Amino acid sequence: MIDHRTLRVALLGAGSVGSQVARLLLEHADELEERAGARLELAGIAVRDVDAPRDVELPRELLTTDAHELIVGSDIVIELMGGIEPARTHILDALQSGADVVTGNKALLATHGAEIFDAADQVGASVSYEAAVAAAIPIVRPLKDSLAGDFVTRIFGIVNGTTNYILDRMDREGAEFDAVLADAQALGYAEADPTADVEGHDAAQKAAILASLAFHTHVPLERVHCEGITSIDAAAIENAKKAGFVIKLLATCERLPAEGDDEAAISVRVYPALVSREHPLASVHGGNNAVYVEAAAAGPLMFYGAGAGGVETASAILGDVVSAARRHIAGGVGVGESARGDQPIAEIGRITTRYQITLDVTDEQGVLATVAGILSQGGVSVATIEQTVSEQPDGTSRARLVIGTHKARELALSTTVERLAESVVVERVVTVLRVEGD
Ligand code: NDP
Ligand code: HSE
Repeated sequence: MIDHRTLRVALLGAGSVGSQVARLLLEHADELEERAGARLELAGIAVRDVDAPRDVELPRELLTTDAHELIVGSDIVIELMGGIEPARTHILDALQSGADVVTGNKALLATHGAEIFDAADQVGASVSYEAAVAAAIPIVRPLKDSLAGDFVTRIFGIVNGTTNYILDRMDREGAEFDAVLADAQALGYAEADPTADVEGHDAAQKAAILASLAFHTHVPLERVHCEGITSIDAAAIENAKKAGFVIKLLATCERLPAEGDDEAAISVRVYPALVSREHPLASVHGGNNAVYVEAAAAGPLMFYGAGAGGVETASAILGDVVSAARRHIAGGVGVGESARGDQPIAEIGRITTRYQITLDVTDEQGVLATVAGILSQGGVSVATIEQTVSEQPDGTSRARLVIGTHKARELALSTTVERLAESVVVERVVTVLRVEGD
């Protein structure tokens, strides 16, 4: 039933995502009114510069640089500025003034989520953030609501569109890293500072949010192990291909059982990993994301779709806006977070996986035996080994070894790699990549 009320909606930000949200709110006003049960009136759009060129033509009179004035008296505040401040202050002000908040700001939620959710609890308002993880893909609500009665054991997937776009083009076209990064920026996938994407920070923020939701605990961002893709070059892509793998930046959140002296804990980590070309994640192309969730009763579930992009992300934002409007009309308190636990978080050294180690070594008799000996002493068992010899400009020859291991503990592996690096026969440890998805 339409209530014929009008809810005042304030939009903070009109960049890649915000401009599309504004367009859809204006173009689909009648349809959204029916779905939400009240008219959603776009009261204004706060930006830094009202004269800046925009992807979408927006009514000039809606643009303002005074976010605070816009927030006061609004029923729903959509924060799409990004960054920590002033986004944090605006969200806290919005909650204080009785508004429900919708945001896509994972950087803010991963660092100040507890403060924001507490502030929402205190006033009984809601904070919705479906767009903060994997953009258009519904994953936050399934974890928060649909799987609230299940026991999630593991999540792993591709949660950054920019890096997937880059790695995919490097894999498929042999493209150069810098050239494809520029394209990802032009497509609106990358963060304002793309370092957050390529260094893995954006994926780590999403992993912290996913793990907190899935395991009902608080995962501080600094406890997420994070490695980016800047060390991945054409040679690494080629080695992966030869061995039947594709390289993907993966976010993994899993429960580790108690083992020996180690108590049960959770592990949350982001790194470029080798994934078998047969695995469904290998066929996630472009800016798409895919998230696997394994739950005790539901079994494995896969969520797939656009992980970045202005209009795609706007879909998730508008879904949250309609829900917030319905809640606003129905009254009562917003559904808070269930991240009340304080589960131990394991160091990276505790994980167990397979590895691919690439070494440049001197091309002499006995070198292979030396390398094999170091691996064996470190408790790392070799599964495959491939050697390529190349002539150097100075007339000497050098060998590149690509070693695939059986499963090993990260601590044993990293200690062994340190020993390899110190060995006189090893000129350079080129890459050490983990194999995931077994
Ligand atoms: P953009 O950088 O494209 O846009 C940011 C907008 O916020 C701009 O309109 C800018 O104004 C405005 N803004 C920034 N700082 C201020 C300030 N201090 N005062 C007033 N206005 C300000 O960001 P995106 O649209 O790409 O992203 C927005 C949010 O959504 C981020 O949190 C991002 O992480 C998240 N997100 C983005 C996705 C994507 O694919 N792009 C996907 C999922 C989430 P002006 O235009 O005048 O400079
Ligand atoms: N920069 C992010 C990405 C946007 O590339 O995935 C979506 O969160």
